[in-house]
Formats: sequence, C-alpha cells, structure tokens
Amino acid sequence: MKDEIAVLYPNETVSTAVLKYCRERSLPLPEHIDRHADLTEKELGDKSEMMVSRLQAQYLLWTARSLGAKKVLEVGCFTGFSALALAEALKDVDGAKIITMDIDPDTGEIARKAFKEAGVDHFVSLVLGPAEKTLADLVPEGPFDLVFLDANKDGYVTYFNTILELGLLRKDGVLIADNVLKKGLVVNATEVNPSVVDTYALGKVPHVQEFNDLLAKDKRVETFLLPVFDGLALVRVL
Ligand SMILES: C[S@@+](CC[C@H](N)C(=O)[O-])C[C@H]1O[C@@H](n2cnc3c(N)ncnc32)[C@H](O)[C@@H]1O
Repeated sequence: MKDEIAVLYPNETVSTAVLKYCRERSLPLPEHIDRHADLTEKELGDKSEMMVSRLQAQYLLWTARSLGAKKVLEVGCFTGFSALALAEALKDVDGAKIITMDIDPDTGEIARKAFKEAGVDHFVSLVLGPAEKTLADLVPEGPFDLVFLDANKDGYVTYFNTILELGLLRKDGVLIADNVLKKGLVVNATEVNPSVVDTYALGKVPHVQEFNDLLAKDKRVETFLLPVFDGLALVRVL
C-alpha cells in the first residue's frame, strides 16, 4: 500500500525544510528552553547530540499537556533540555511533579542549574545514580501519568519491567521510549543502510530489538511505533 512506504521525504533538503515548517507551526518552546539547548551545544560540542531535537521537545511539551499529565518521570536527563520542555507543560498544573534521573553528576549539575534559573526547581527534581537501582525508590512518588525513557538502551527492558511491576505508571498512563529504530538499523543493518558504519548505534541494536519485541507481545500494554525522530515507542498501560 502506498501509505506504508517508509521513506518520509526524498532527500535532506526536503526533510530540513519540512522540519523547519513543522517547528514554526507547532506549539513553540519558550525562548529560555531554546537558549538552554544552544548553551548545551556550545559547551558540550558533539556530546550535545544526546539531546532530543527541538521539534521533539515541542512534541513532548504538546503531549504532556494534551495528556493532562500531573506527574512525569524521565529516565535520562542529560543537561535537562527535555525535562525543561516537560516542565513547561506542567508549570501551571496544581501539584505537578517531575522526577528526572541520570547517572552523570556533571551534566546533572548543569540540569539542576537550568531548573533553578527557569524557576521550575520547586517541582522538578533530579535523582542521580544508575536508574536500574534508583527507580525502585520512586514508589512513594508514583504513580506517574507519563514516563519518558531516553537513557542507556541496554536498560530499556529492565526499566520497562520495573516501571510496570512497581506500578510506577498508572492505568492509561503513557510511556514514550526514544531511539527505538536507531537510524533504521533495528530493521536493516546491511550495507543498504548508510548508518551501518555507525558502530556506536549498531551496538545498541540488539537491546532495542529486544525491547520492541517485548512491547509488541506484552499483554499489559498497547504500543504504537512512530517512525519519526529516531523512532518513538508510544506505550499505553492497560
Ligand atoms: C540521550 S541522553 C538524555 C537526553 C535528554 N533526555 C535530553 O533530551 O536532553 C541519555 C542520558 O542517559 C544517562 N544514562 C546512561 N546510563 C544511565 C543509567 N544507567 N541510569 C541513569 N541514566 C543513565 C546518560 O548519562 C545521558 O545523560
């Protein structure tokens, strides 16, 4: 069927123009959040590629607000860019709470400073440590309405199972997992895929495949895989 052809746009020129068009016509990020992304790029160079794109941050903002989320959990804070977008969605919600987790104290310090400067540190907090361990301490904080999973891919299966087993996500709550298609390598890692030379991405592929396969067959959830950005899994708890 025609609408199942996976190539979204024919080349980089068209894709770039489409992204710009979408950015300009989607719920915008406030200036201070855009500036934080600029700062992360300036200070951390190539490492800043860890951040979600600006359009994806707009998507997170729109989604959190549209779901009416009050409590949000993020696994993978980095310098706090995506958490700031989520905070923007929740800033006027009574009793809002965002917990974001990361293992890296250096980027964590940047994130905490950004939360303070943005005036959201009264409801956004960073938990430092390996999420494999720290997730278990969050039971009294839950259940959450929305979880954004954007950390080490070899942890996705454990995070997902822990979140469901501990009831950290409420019924009808939504989990969004990032990078579940890994430049298409998850589906095709042969020489027809130019990203096959990206050994870093390639190393993540078996973990993401295991995660996607689990989601597809797990009766506790319903899943939709979205082939935009680097692939998003949208997962609703039954
Ligand atoms: C892709 S980045 C997150 C980007 C962030 N969501 C954003 O858009 O700005 C992934 C983060 O996961 C963190 N991470 C890696 N292993 C982890 C672990 N075991 N527990 C918690 N965080 C971890 C890394 O330190 C890194 O900051």
